[in-house]
Amino acid sequence: MQDLVQRIYGAGSRFHIGDIAWELASVSPERRAGWRIALWNDGDQDVAWGWIEGNGMLLVVDPARPEVADEVFDWFRELVGPGELLCSVLESETHLIAALETAGFSVEEGRAYYTHHNLGLDNLGTPEVPPGFTLRHARADEIEKRAAVHRAAWSDVAPSKMTADAMAAVMSSWPYRPELDWVVENSDGEFVASALIWLDEQHRAGLVEPVGCAPEYRRLGLGQAVNLGALHALKELGGVEARVCPRGDDGYPIPAKLYQSIGFRPGLRTVNYVAKSN
Ligand SMILES: CC(C)(COP(=O)(O)OP(=O)(O)OC[C@H]1O[C@@H](n2cnc3c(N)ncnc32)[C@H](O)[C@@H]1OP(=O)(O)O)[C@@H](O)C(=O)NCCC(=O)NCCS
Repeated sequence: MQDLVQRIYGAGSRFHIGDIAWELASVSPERRAGWRIALWNDGDQDVAWGWIEGNGMLLVVDPARPEVADEVFDWFRELVGPGELLCSVLESETHLIAALETAGFSVEEGRAYYTHHNLGLDNLGTPEVPPGFTLRHARADEIEKRAAVHRAAWSDVAPSKMTADAMAAVMSSWPYRPELDWVVENSDGEFVASALIWLDEQHRAGLVEPVGCAPEYRRLGLGQAVNLGALHALKELGGVEARVCPRGDDGYPIPAKLYQSIGFRPGLRTVNYVAKSN
């Protein structure tokens, strides 16, 4: 799946190899058990994949092989059966939009969507943390603490299911590297904020995913600092640009404000499609 994503990567592509690493590794075994994933190959070359969870599907199709998208939608419809089918694509993925329309899907407004935000690494701000806090990258053996800060930051809406096992899986996924996994530590040695960047060396492009700050430490500038720390490390490792994909709708606006405060600029957005099947 990552091979195909990397091969067709560009400004208009939906996913970065880091998206796939994070989404595959960070979830519970129970959730993973509900997935259905299929790949389409032509000889040695991967040309498409589909990833179904419940009645929703994510897909990647090589834009040079747009006809394969019809097969992916047939598989989706066959596997999920009658009822509502959901699929989201990036607005620039015109080959997928054409196939969605052929398969009977139409745009559905009102659901959550994501906006790609982009940043060149030439003029990064200087990361600063208040007295008593330390900014550094995580180490490969700090799995428990790394899982704990993720849980703390992501339990506002519902308790986070992140475990040490899942974080260990993330930290052993290609292309994870601890030098790009930044944390802020408080004076007790607890991690209180984190930002993980995945580097695609072939495209010199980083993906920031995920970012979080424990609720009691928010609005102190730690989110900014931990992102900037990771972004400087990305530049030192050869990255020239970074992407992050926060929600673009009004239902969850704060992360986009954080990224824009660092210099990220909004670009392409995802679009939700729905179809009824019978
Ligand atoms: C998003 C998050 C990481 C921000 O962390 P933070 O440490 O509070 O962010 P900072 O203090 O560095 O804030 C930087 C800027 O972001 C914006 N911002 C942050 N929180 C905000 C809020 N509650 N309301 C409005 N703007 C906000 C502001 O522009 C702020 O600058 P300012 O304080 O000078 O006005 C934190 O709220 C969080 O962990 N949320 C849950 C997890 C999450 O959604 N992660 C991002 C997913 S893409």
